[in-house]
Amino acid sequence: MRVVILASGRGSNAEALCLAQQAGRLGRAEIVAIFADRLEAGILALGPRLGVDARYLDPAPFKTKLEGEGELRYIEAVAACAPDLIVLAGFMRVVKPGFLAAFAGKVINLHPSLLPSFPGLDGIGQAFRHGVKFTGCTVHYVTPEVDAGRIIDQAVVRIEASDTEDTLAAKIHVAEHGLLVDVVARLSR
Ligand code: GAR
Repeated sequence: MRVVILASGRGSNAEALCLAQQAGRLGRAEIVAIFADRLEAGILALGPRLGVDARYLDPAPFKTKLEGEGELRYIEAVAACAPDLIVLAGFMRVVKPGFLAAFAGKVINLHPSLLPSFPGLDGIGQAFRHGVKFTGCTVHYVTPEVDAGRIIDQAVVRIEASDTEDTLAAKIHVAEHGLLVDVVARLSR
């Protein structure tokens, strides 16, 4: 199963997937490319170390969504990888119907809350400020409605009285790495 990752940030989830593949824990999944929409994305520096082609791909003209010329560039580059699965691993941009139609049923997203609670930006901070006692992370299929597609799996994280937003974020990231690796391995079978 050929997997393409789209990311915007430090790329710890993309790294977890690559390391799992190296350790033989990613089932039949093979990470074939990582595309980042920000030149500063940490994952671009990690690419060579992980032995995966990691490239910046210009998402312009929009800042918060992938549409117009940027969308066409992404469709062309991703299609050239002949992917069976596209993983949005911290891709901080709304993916629109054009891209989703090009890869129907193949795009999944990782979100740092127990959806349908706390969709959108800053899922971790939203949950922390709300005062819920359990939060976590979700992997779901991507549909045009943000963070609303069918849920594939979730992992629960308890918020302790001693947690700060930073310690909570660290716990959620650990949970995300395990969840995402599990889901991709399962989908590859
Ligand atoms: C992850 O926490 C992921 O859930 C979140 O971005 C982070 C990326 O971390 N995604 C979203 O908030 C999407 N709405 P990473 O760059 O270290 O993998």
